[in-house]
Amino acid sequence: MKYVPLGNSNLSVPAIGIGCMRMNRLNVKQADRFVRSCIEWGATYFDHADMYKGGECERLFGQILQNHSDLRDNIFLQSKCGIDLRSDKIYNFSKSYIISCVEGSLQRLQTDHLDMLLLHRPDALVEPEEVAEAFEELYTSGKVLHFGVSNHSPGQIELLKKYLSHPLLVNQLQLSIPMAQMIVSGMEVNRLSEGAINRDGDVLNYCRINDVTIQAWSPFQGPDKKCFLGNPAFEELNQVLEDLAKEHHVTSAAVAAAWILRHPAKMQVVSGSMDLDHTKQILAATSFTLNRQEWYQIYKAAGYILP
Ligand SMILES: NC(=O)c1ccc[n+]([C@@H]2O[C@H](COP(=O)([O-])OP(=O)(O)OC[C@H]3O[C@@H](n4cnc5c(N)ncnc54)[C@H](OP(=O)(O)O)[C@@H]3O)[C@@H](O)[C@H]2O)c1
Repeated sequence: MKYVPLGNSNLSVPAIGIGCMRMNRLNVKQADRFVRSCIEWGATYFDHADMYKGGECERLFGQILQNHSDLRDNIFLQSKCGIDLRSDKIYNFSKSYIISCVEGSLQRLQTDHLDMLLLHRPDALVEPEEVAEAFEELYTSGKVLHFGVSNHSPGQIELLKKYLSHPLLVNQLQLSIPMAQMIVSGMEVNRLSEGAINRDGDVLNYCRINDVTIQAWSPFQGPDKKCFLGNPAFEELNQVLEDLAKEHHVTSAAVAAAWILRHPAKMQVVSGSMDLDHTKQILAATSFTLNRQEWYQIYKAAGYILP
């Protein structure tokens, strides 16, 4: 397993994290086997959210932690909060809602603390002073050790930072080869092309400059929300991935994950597969490094231009 730095902390974490958004597809026995195999393979970072399948994914994970008292100390447990589904979907960063989300997650996960809490999606009505109070209370009570955000722009992070006394170590953002706008906009800067459109306030460079670790969510998903691996809509890309996979004695999935890991921002990939074979294949991305030529070959095969 390769490790990446966690923001500006002195911690390093596995370069591939395990996203638990679809864990409810597994029964307890399957989930138990899945989680313990991941840990055995060195994938000890688990990503949750309070709202994944109405809390079912956290509840299932909690059962596994309950069944194996030795597991909790050997994993890094992350959850997210702030998407309020109690009636109609809204975003809610009020102090009381953040705290109640964390308490719900801790109860379902059957643990006394989260290693990392992320604010899931920006709340237009955010009062950063309230977020700061919530984080302080969660930190001093020992319920949350580290904090970060997800889907946040540089300006939104700066606004929070003005009030927070804890660093934001992580920004979890959508990134896959076909969904690489954060990289592409920098490559086509100042051109009239579609790729030049900057939709994120230059979040990639912001995170690099400020030591915020980018966690790439949905690393195998295309714009149609389907997996691009083996998908005929991405024929040229899949051909190049397969050729490189053969050369490196891995699978296309590993090459696709390695493409993200090769970026010097030292990102963490959050893999959402609940299939043990697929997961093992994906983790092989940490066993080799793509060279510059190969990285650009994949970039071009995805249809991006080099002006
Ligand atoms: N912060 C956010 O807003 C946000 C949003 C979405 C997701 N997330 C996080 O990111 C994690 C990953 O997201 P995701 O599950 O949408 O994306 P993903 O990891 O890109 O997985 C997408 C699909 O790819 C398939 N896949 C993976 N490897 C494969 C292979 N070798 N061959 C064929 N199919 C393969 C998986 O199916 P199989 O299960 O069959 O392998 C899965 O259904 C989630 O679990 C969650 O933790 C965060």
